[in-house]
Amino acid sequence: MGIIPPSMQMKNIVILISGGGSNMQAIVQAAQREDWAGRFGARVAAVLSNRPDCAGLAKARQLGLATQVVDHRAYAGAPEPRAAFDAALADAVEHHAPTLVVLAGFMRILTPEFVRRFAGRLVNIHPSLLPAFPGLRTHARAIEAGCRVAGATVHRVTDELDYGPILDQVAVPVLPGDDAAALGARVLTQEHLLYPRVLTRLLSER
Ligand code: GRF
Repeated sequence: MGIIPPSMQMKNIVILISGGGSNMQAIVQAAQREDWAGRFGARVAAVLSNRPDCAGLAKARQLGLATQVVDHRAYAGAPEPRAAFDAALADAVEHHAPTLVVLAGFMRILTPEFVRRFAGRLVNIHPSLLPAFPGLRTHARAIEAGCRVAGATVHRVTDELDYGPILDQVAVPVLPGDDAAALGARVLTQEHLLYPRVLTRLLSER
């Protein structure tokens, strides 16, 4: 009844996705299994996507989560489309007063304004052992380069794409005969363990 005292307020996690949403699902399931609500007062408050048709949104709804679409294509006609989209997205995220903003396969480069607004709260997962292979086609590039080890990185988000302080990594061997799909699938299963582990640590520190 009435106003909830600050000590009782939940730590909200907002997850941003563009694709399959398997990392989002792994985080939500870990939060349930490991009782993040009881242990940290934390919950996944919402899942936001820039793609109305992405499979992850359907998964989020099945998990009973609040979802919202901020479609980047709707801002194509604006004088500064990227800035306009990011401002709308930032407002939608801010609505949940998030403790953490978790990029999980979110395939848009965010403006410095967005990054600044959520500084210290914004984390990303990237499917390589950063600082190796920022950008796209990470598994194919690792195989082409002859890497013996690939992996994934969770890092804080800064203005520079796929950089920022590393929070944790997982290494995955590149096996003889691996193609990008086989390696990517093995890395992805490890991402599902890595991301919840990092978030657990961040929540316990807050
Ligand atoms: C993951 O490999 C993640 O590291 C990268 O995009 C992929 C997203 O997969 N940023 P999903 O949408 O979580 O299934």
